[in-house]
Amino acid sequence: MATLPEPVSIGGLELPNRLYRAPLLECAGNDAETVDRLIAELEPAAASGAGLVCQGATIVRGEGGCAAPRMTRVHDPEFVARLEKLTDRIHDHGTGIVIQLEHGGLRSMETWHAGYRRERPGLEQLAVSRPPLQLRALDRLGLLDLSPRVLSTDDVYGLAADFGRAAERAVSAGYDGVHLAGANMGIVQQFLSPFYNRRDDEFGGGLLDRLRFLELVHDEIRERAGGVPLMTKVPSETVAPRFVRRHLTDEDAVTIAVELESIGFDAVVPVRTSTFWDMSIVRGEFPARAWSDDRFEDGYAAAFGYRRKGITLLNRLQARRFPTEHGWNADLCRAVRAELDIPVLLEGGVRERARMDSLLGDACDLVGMARPFYAEPRLPARLLGEGDAEALCESCNNCTVPQITGADGVCRTPSVLARRGSLERRGAYRRER
Ligand SMILES: Cc1cc2nc3c(=O)[nH]c(=O)nc-3n(C[C@H](O)[C@H](O)[C@H](O)COP(=O)(O)O)c2cc1C
Ligand code: SF4
Repeated sequence: MATLPEPVSIGGLELPNRLYRAPLLECAGNDAETVDRLIAELEPAAASGAGLVCQGATIVRGEGGCAAPRMTRVHDPEFVARLEKLTDRIHDHGTGIVIQLEHGGLRSMETWHAGYRRERPGLEQLAVSRPPLQLRALDRLGLLDLSPRVLSTDDVYGLAADFGRAAERAVSAGYDGVHLAGANMGIVQQFLSPFYNRRDDEFGGGLLDRLRFLELVHDEIRERAGGVPLMTKVPSETVAPRFVRRHLTDEDAVTIAVELESIGFDAVVPVRTSTFWDMSIVRGEFPARAWSDDRFEDGYAAAFGYRRKGITLLNRLQARRFPTEHGWNADLCRAVRAELDIPVLLEGGVRERARMDSLLGDACDLVGMARPFYAEPRLPARLLGEGDAEALCESCNNCTVPQITGADGVCRTPSVLARRGSLERRGAYRRER
């Protein structure tokens, strides 16, 4: 059985170990400071020894499609070329870096963020099909703001080409590979999901037809960016609410992963998620501290208006439904891995080094973490160095809610920060080379 410090290869990309920083919002935007912000966010993971850094979702188009404020767009060649400074800095530490490509479709800010929408009244959401009944009902109640533009067949080809062009620009800027945001209710999941995809052209129908968009994105990336390592999240929508009858099952996720390997993907990240944007991908506690922090109140009001209290209550109920659990995607990853030869990446609630080692070679080939990197940007030094190390992150989600307002992605729980401070003073984040 492999252990965390052992090397691994993804599609020919040699990585020094099996620990990765999972895609996580950097809130870096697109301005003169973006590259330095990304370096400040991502370099500590590389400098402290992570084998692979997955940059958080970046948007392939210049307008619309952002799921949250200050997401970085990668449509502009001049801007993307400047990211070479970031990829060079990551490579200086012997770490690989992949960029995650995304378009939010119906999950975009133009659906849920009242203030953003008011400033852009004409902005439509890209939709795979007419939105499901449940979303239309929320729209009628004023809880969402839907004005969907259902993609024509030509539009689908155009969108896939934008993924290809973004990949080409990223690879020219030194990224080692491309990651696709195949879950978290982004447009890729909306194509895969029977809940969203009711198309009657070549991109809709049975599971393998709904997978055609992902296949087309693969083909576009291969044509424009060559044989770089290509990976994607693979959703199983088994935690969708009961009233959602049509959703992706674990068996569907295994079938998708098998198909992706035969199409030419180099790695997969199976995740259990919902058909909605909820806490199933960030399981943990209700972030009471974040919701009652006055500094963010104006931002919450701008995003939700009169819905603010209802959203907070929903978040409280969600936290009850999705408590954190160590390695909550492990059994799904294990089922996928049994059928594949390409690496399987596991993330979601992974915190303890000893349990990481026992998951490797059993449920997965690499293990990743997301929120723990907010809590401890130099976490790999501890995890790779000490067999009994455990990440400090408590999955309390105080970091996630303020991001609705465009706030930075940082740990916001004082007790955790105090423990990090004391570890820092003891030299725990120094890297043993
Ligand atoms: C604030 C935040 C932003 C995230 N952004 C992304 C993203 O851009 N792309 C993605 O695929 N997953 C994203 N995720 C999900 C993480 O990659 C990861 O799967 C999830 O947080 C569970 O891992 P953890 O328990 O180690 O945090 C995000 C999670 C959080 C908390
Ligand atoms: S606020 Fe800190 S401890 Fe809580 S989930 Fe975020 S990073 Fe982890």
